[in-house]
Amino acid sequence: MWRSEPQTRQYVLVRPDVPQEPARDDVIGHTALRYVQGWTEALVDQIIPRFRPTARRALNGQARRQEMIRGILRVMHPQVIVETGTHRGATAAWLATESGVDVHTAELDARYYAYARRRFARRPTIHVYHQPSPAMLASLATSSAFPKERALFYLDAHWHGSLPLPQELQFIADCWTNSVAVIDDFEVPGDPDYGFDDYGPGSRLCSRDMGLDELAGAQVYWPSAPSRTETGARRGCAVIALGAVTTALAELPELRVNRAH
Ligand SMILES: C[S@@+](CC[C@H](N)C(=O)[O-])C[C@H]1O[C@@H](n2cnc3c(N)ncnc32)[C@H](O)[C@@H]1O
Repeated sequence: MWRSEPQTRQYVLVRPDVPQEPARDDVIGHTALRYVQGWTEALVDQIIPRFRPTARRALNGQARRQEMIRGILRVMHPQVIVETGTHRGATAAWLATESGVDVHTAELDARYYAYARRRFARRPTIHVYHQPSPAMLASLATSSAFPKERALFYLDAHWHGSLPLPQELQFIADCWTNSVAVIDDFEVPGDPDYGFDDYGPGSRLCSRDMGLDELAGAQVYWPSAPSRTETGARRGCAVIALGAVTTALAELPELRVNRAH
């Protein structure tokens, strides 16, 4: 097979059995195409009413979860909120409105990133990153201007088969103090009717697989509301408190402490 080399305008032999590095032009072309596709899809999403996120859809449309997060906001007074997995921004918008602080949110998919960027163009307190969540966390951790105390993390980026959660949690515990991480789609011990994600052996969103017991200095809480009283998608969650904020969270009626700790 022969391929035209754009720089030299010569033809070079390409052996089909040898894997070829994609040409730089191909990579740039593919990236540009993906962006155009993402923005086009986002535009279509905006036109279709059933895709439009409303405040009711925040936190999976779960009224008890919303009460629980309001309680956490009230007792911890976060300086900043970090969300992984923006999707169409339902939860990011709700968190920004309820807390009044900046929300930083990462989205991997070009379509949802484009949608959220467009949606939040006039909301300067919502910062959308087109990055895998571990990369956003790493860049926030290394920014000296970014608060390293009283940060609230809402970890909701578990699609596409990759599950960076255990590493993200350890990273948060290493770099932030007096902070709280809420993990969506988590198994709630003693309440099997709360939904959770299970990606196969070792990849179930539960204490053991996600290494919650190994997180030094962390206190784990579960929602105290029984799943039968929950609304919306009725997904479970785990709440992990790091440092001094643990005492404040212990008083919240919306949380029950994990007995293993
Ligand atoms: C369940 S949705 C998030 C919903 C959103 N948090 C809300 O409540 O409105 C999960 C999103 O995470 C994104 N995602 C999956 N893995 C990711 C990763 N490693 N980094 C960033 N985004 C990711 C998916 O594309 C998807 O849009």
